[in-house]
Amino acid sequence: MALLNILTYPDPRLHKVAKPVAQIDERIRTLAADMIETMYESSGVGLAATQVDVHERLLVMDVSEERDQPLVVINPRVVWQSNEVVVGDEGCLSVPGFSGDVERYAQIHIEFENERGDTHKLEAEGLLAVCVQHEMDHLIGKVYVEYLSPLKRGRIKTKLLKEAKEALREAS
Ligand code: NI
Repeated sequence: MALLNILTYPDPRLHKVAKPVAQIDERIRTLAADMIETMYESSGVGLAATQVDVHERLLVMDVSEERDQPLVVINPRVVWQSNEVVVGDEGCLSVPGFSGDVERYAQIHIEFENERGDTHKLEAEGLLAVCVQHEMDHLIGKVYVEYLSPLKRGRIKTKLLKEAKEALREAS
């Protein structure tokens, strides 16, 4: 297994739209395993392939306390969502050091394939429902900061660009 590099906002590659996974094979299983390792290493609850610069519809999640229930979600389709919405404070491994309030459906049901190619249905609520929607947004090139006010988004962008420039200068 290997740790993968996570793209940082406002990297334009975070806005690419992912294509469906055409074949669930060893390449996809290795990618999923590496993404799970990267997610745990970064203390995240979810990671989308887009964030590691692979533009295919695959994401991993683990919202368990023990961090021992990884879920691999391939080609997710929303089959139902609640009328009820919730607002919660979200963060993202691609937007380090920030968080912001985002409105999401309180419950969502999806269908997807797992890493063995079996079709599963997931009825999600609470943190898992929020996580599903956050990660599925990544697959259509959407980062949660796009839900924030232009002022707050601009502030985040400026700060992260400055940090990236400083990191580059230190490395050279
Ligand atoms: Ni994210």
